[in-house]
Amino acid sequence: MSVLSAQRTVVLISGRGSNALALIQACQTRIQSAEVVAVISDRTDAAGLSLAREHGVAAQCVPASAYAHRGDFEQALNTAIDAAQPTLIVLAGFMRVLSAECLVPWQGRMINIHPSLLPRHRGLHTHARALAAGDAEHGASVHCVTPELDAGPIISQARLTIQPDDTDRTLAERVLALEHRLLPATVALLSHSTVEVDNEQIRINHAPLATPLYLGLDLADDGRLLRGMGAS
Ligand code: GRF
Repeated sequence: MSVLSAQRTVVLISGRGSNALALIQACQTRIQSAEVVAVISDRTDAAGLSLAREHGVAAQCVPASAYAHRGDFEQALNTAIDAAQPTLIVLAGFMRVLSAECLVPWQGRMINIHPSLLPRHRGLHTHARALAAGDAEHGASVHCVTPELDAGPIISQARLTIQPDDTDRTLAERVLALEHRLLPATVALLSHSTVEVDNEQIRINHAPLATPLYLGLDLADDGRLLRGMGAS
């Protein structure tokens, strides 16, 4: 069993870094006891690296392309993460599947933001797949990372109704706007409440979480719990 704490948060990215930026700004302005201490990218051209530096956050690249073997890359990545002494690792647009071995040191300490209402649409191209499936709703999820892709226990979700004129692009934009609220709200939750991970089970203030917390219904933007749930 481990308690999620955002006191020293490391964010892993691969590109634009807009979720990393939303989290950095929230930690710097309104989330108590939470700090993004480092942003690490697996790509040298990730725009999020300079965004982090502009906000005074240490940013570093561990370029996957420089390693012939996945194991060597993962070892270098883990060394970089470990150097930041993280209490929490957030995958935010980190486009790489990490091996079970690489994840061992971070078990119960790593979360991911994914652009779909998991368990629907694990993996890539989630917006196109939601449209193709004729889904009525779509959204984003924050979940604990386990070796199986996008399959760890879900902490929180934000959802929207798919409109008849939505396209892949409009959905991506609308979901991203939700992600920029959901990730900071979920990290803020960790400072208001005790969030524990025990294998596949999330506990909030020691009560098992049966269904994900919905942003705006169960979880406020500032991380407070709404509607019971041992509201804090
Ligand atoms: C986000 O939609 C995230 O959920 C997905 O990749 C995108 C990354 O965007 N995994 P950004 O780099 O945070 O702007």
